[in-house]
Parts: sequence; C-alpha cells; structure tokens
Amino acid sequence: MTPISLTVLEEIMRNAGVIAMRYFNNLENIGINRKSSRDLVTDADVAVEAYLKEALAEAYPHYGFWGEESGQSNNQTNRWIVDPIDGTHSFSKGQYFWSISVALEIDQELIAGSVFAPALDDLYIAAKGKGARKNGKVISVSVEPSLADSMIATGFACLRSYLVENNLQRFSRIAQETTGQRRFGSAAMDLCLVADGQVDAYWEQELNLYDVAAGALIVREANGTVTDFKGADGVFPKQILASNGKILEQILPLM
Ligand code: IPD
Ligand code: CA
Ligand code: CA
Repeated sequence: MTPISLTVLEEIMRNAGVIAMRYFNNLENIGINRKSSRDLVTDADVAVEAYLKEALAEAYPHYGFWGEESGQSNNQTNRWIVDPIDGTHSFSKGQYFWSISVALEIDQELIAGSVFAPALDDLYIAAKGKGARKNGKVISVSVEPSLADSMIATGFACLRSYLVENNLQRFSRIAQETTGQRRFGSAAMDLCLVADGQVDAYWEQELNLYDVAAGALIVREANGTVTDFKGADGVFPKQILASNGKILEQILPLM
C-alpha cells in the first residue's frame, strides 16, 4: 500500500507550481545568482523548496527531507527527495520546459513521485505498483521497436563541460543512428517524456538523485526501463538511461 495520499501530493505540487509561476511571470525582477560559474539558483528555487519542505513535513512529519538547495535534514532512511526547479537555466530565460520534482524514498526504494511543469500545466504522478498518470490519465511508454525510427533526448550538464567525458561523442554516435534528437533542459521532464511516449529513450550522465528520482519511478510505472549505460537495472544518476524497453538492446552498444 502506498503510505501517502497521491491527492495530497498533487495538491502540494500544484501549490508549489503557483509559487514558481509567480516568479516566472516576474522574471525581470527576481534574483538570479550563481552557485558556481555555470550553476544558477534563483529566488524561485529557494522559495519553492522552502514551501515544499514545510508542506511535506506538515502533511507527513515522520519523513525526512533532501532538497537540492537546503540539503538533508531529519530522517534520511525514509525521505522526500526534492528538486524545486529542475531546468533553472530554461526557467531563467522564460522558456517553458522546467519542472518541480518530488519523490518519496523508503528504505532506498522509490515509492511515489511527481513531476509538475507549471508553465505547460502538465502534472505527472506515480506510485510504485500503481502505474503512472499525466493530468489524471494513465500513460505508457511508446511502442516504437526500431532505434532507426526513434526520437531520443539527452542533456549536457553545465558542470560536465569541464569533463573529458562530456557526452558529445556519445550524442553524435546515437544521433547518426536515430531519426529525431531533442535537448529539453530538464532531466525530470525528459524522463516523463519517455514515460509518456513522446520520446523513445533518454540518457544523461553526472546527475544527482534529486534530478531523476521522481522521473525514474514515473518511467518504470509507465512500463519503461531505467538502467545504467551497460543495461543494469536501477537508478544510477551518474549514468541514467531510460527507454521504452523495445529499443534498449539497440541503444546499449552505442552508449
Ligand atoms: C539540471 C537539468 C538539466 C541537466 C543538468 C541539471 P537544474 O538541473 O536537469 O536538464 O542537463 O545537468 O543540473 O540545475 O536546473 O536543477
Ligand atoms: Ca536538477
Ligand atoms: Ca534545481
């Protein structure tokens, strides 16, 4: 049994979305700071996380919290894993592809998760063993069987540009073998687009658990696969590959 109410989680996500949109609609007047040279944090990231921390603790006082901006507090065995704005760079430019990502992890297992893209008004939610939904409707991954006809997505983390292994070669290998390529700028959203069948596979490297926890559960519950670049089942933020399952064996040799 899911230990929380998805209705309560959805209400908290929507409230967080209202807060985020208040900042998004007033971008010229909000603070945008740098955590490091290419890593942004805005007033919205901080305000959304503060709201989520308080609202989740009020509804479920026995779970701890790990948020990108405020770090870890209280119970870390059973905890909320939160990225208040995933896609801050897109957000800061007034683009629509950014999201709020919240997952519940219990004893190292993802139990529930939601990703809300307020500017698109798309809310994804899933609970372990209960399927995944987008705006109330059950979703599932695409039925595309051929990598050659596939649409793939990836990301190039700002921080990763300093690494030798920066995804550019992998991207060009896979781009040559696929029909469509996209780079949306929010890992949480990318995973939901796989779950919703809008893209057939997505990979990225050097992410953190808060970027992918909710989206990974949503992919799994939509009957997709979540593996590392060698095909091992599991959520590995440093090497995450999500697919519709049908093209997994075709994409793995190119990773
Ligand atoms: C970023 C987004 C982006 C990915 C970066 C992440 P943030 O998260 O998920 O798509 O390419 O690696 O850091 O910083 O906007 O929360
Ligand atoms: Ca993120
Ligand atoms: Ca973030």
